[in-house]
Amino acid sequence: MHFTDLKTLKADLEKNFQNLPLVEKVEDIVHGEGNENASVMLIGEAPGYNESVQRRPFVGRSGQLLRKVLAESGLQEDQVYISNIVKVRPPDNRDPLPAEILAFKPYLDAEIQIIKPKLIMTLGRFSMAKFLSDVKISQIHGRLHKVKWNDQLLFILPMYHPAAALRATRVKDSFIKDFAKIDKIVDWVENTKDEAFFSETVKEALL
Ligand code: URA
Repeated sequence: MHFTDLKTLKADLEKNFQNLPLVEKVEDIVHGEGNENASVMLIGEAPGYNESVQRRPFVGRSGQLLRKVLAESGLQEDQVYISNIVKVRPPDNRDPLPAEILAFKPYLDAEIQIIKPKLIMTLGRFSMAKFLSDVKISQIHGRLHKVKWNDQLLFILPMYHPAAALRATRVKDSFIKDFAKIDKIVDWVENTKDEAFFSETVKEALL
């Protein structure tokens, strides 16, 4: 699927909602949010209850934690775009099914093509698995990866999901520490490309 901008992408998603799983009515859809020219894109899993009521990604409890660490990281709101692998809340907040992820994939891929982010931060294992296979989040969170995806080179920073951070103090500590590094990582991706920093922080994968 090819769209020139987010407005046409969202309109197409709403027009074709009957072909998508989980969607009963067009209002069930929670679109991505943020600047179309963002340098950083965050990808979560699927909306929860609060997100489906407010029709905005990451506005519930885990969203509040995410938005707090983002604000503290020094990233400006207009540098960021936030979306999800699946754009509709699964019943009882269960994990998204492979068929659901696949059905929404063309829209997420198109968002990435339009925004062309300098850095993608994945939140949790489902969005991490879109770019990195056979890895454990506990081993690679907070480390920058350069991956080849659809013939493009992308910088991927796998992060814990904020909901996992809310469930365990150890994960929350790592989550906060990882976010504290992102201004340096964004600066590296956008500007400096200093090799010493690269060997310490960046892991080349799948090249
Ligand atoms: N969890 C997600 O993965 N996405 C949201 O939008 C909210 C909670």
